[in-house]
Amino acid sequence: MDALIPILNKLQDVFNTVGSESIQLPQIVVVGSQSAGKSSVLENIVGRDFLPRGTGIVTRRPLTLQLVYTPPEDKLVQCQNLGMSAPDENEFAVFTHIKGKIYTDFNEVRQEIEAETDRLGGKKNISNEPITLKIYSPKVVTLTLIDLPGLTKIPVEDQPLDIENQVRNLIMYYISNPNAIILAITPANVDFSTSEAVKFAKEVDPEGRRTLAVLTKLDLMDRGTDAYDVLCGRIIPVKLGIIGVVNRSQEDIHKKKPIEEALRYESAFHQKNYPSIASRNGTPFLAKTLNRLLMHHIRDCLPGLKTRINQMVSHFQALVNSFGEPIEDKGRLLLQIITKFASSYCATIEGTAKNIEVSELC
Ligand code: GDP
Ligand code: NA
Ligand code: MG
Repeated sequence: MDALIPILNKLQDVFNTVGSESIQLPQIVVVGSQSAGKSSVLENIVGRDFLPRGTGIVTRRPLTLQLVYTPPEDKLVQCQNLGMSAPDENEFAVFTHIKGKIYTDFNEVRQEIEAETDRLGGKKNISNEPITLKIYSPKVVTLTLIDLPGLTKIPVEDQPLDIENQVRNLIMYYISNPNAIILAITPANVDFSTSEAVKFAKEVDPEGRRTLAVLTKLDLMDRGTDAYDVLCGRIIPVKLGIIGVVNRSQEDIHKKKPIEEALRYESAFHQKNYPSIASRNGTPFLAKTLNRLLMHHIRDCLPGLKTRINQMVSHFQALVNSFGEPIEDKGRLLLQIITKFASSYCATIEGTAKNIEVSELC
């Protein structure tokens, strides 16, 4: 996400200057079967350990994860807005359901997600009501990610009989949003041609404009099998790409394996097992690809921004005219500055997008 931070911030400055609403980045939503590795993938994208993960239906409420870019010099103001005093740490979190508490220990964040999940859903049921967590950090872009319960087929123990439908409706609600980027997550140890995640995504995004497929658990495939065909799009093609990853196993979680170590392991795994396509797979490449999608989104927003600025200029011009005062051509000057700015940023974004390796299918 590093490449996006300076560009977005400059743009936000323009938005603030013209007093208009800031750029709305797409929400990133994960969809997949239970235990496919959805929470693990999200956590790797954010680069922080804080989501409950595990076997079984661990995620039972939507988690809206709002990342808020906050450089250290803005920390005080942010905390004042929250009505709290600033912590020493530059990275901190708050829940909307808990007033007056700032979290700097991300283990505590996870515990609170777990407790709050149980509060509404009990130990088994799912609930539509999202938990909203905001993470303030100098290392993120202002972006919303949504973790969802996984698709289940058979209710266990005292789960309601219609749990499959409940989860289905919940997922549909989030991925139908045209402003959502869908991460369709499938574990490599199940048949990709029957992927529920990809099927769901196709229902709401038949042209595949906003769906990125992620293949998890490459390390858990049967001996003697590999995922080349899937990763190269020969089973089901996915326009924006199919990216293979290796997340932390349950044992790694028990042993509290740090993210950095897991990333090193993943990279070595790809080099060894998928040497010819290693550069287009793995968590860092997934993050890069997401970055590229977000850049394109920003680029697509710029013409609209320009139109809004033009409208504002005419509006204020008319206002100034109505005062009957002689005017200097301030409006035109502002427009010129912004036009120049917007086109130079288009160039920067295109340049950056070019530098990022584009994932082409094999
Ligand atoms: P979710 O239910 O889809 O959110 O899946 P989780 O992220 O909670 O992961 C379910 C379980 O699978 C956890 O025990 C993870 O440690 C494990 N897991 C997820 N991805 C991988 C992977 O790529 N490799 C291995 N070995 N385990 C994984
Ligand atoms: Na799970
Ligand atoms: Mg989960």
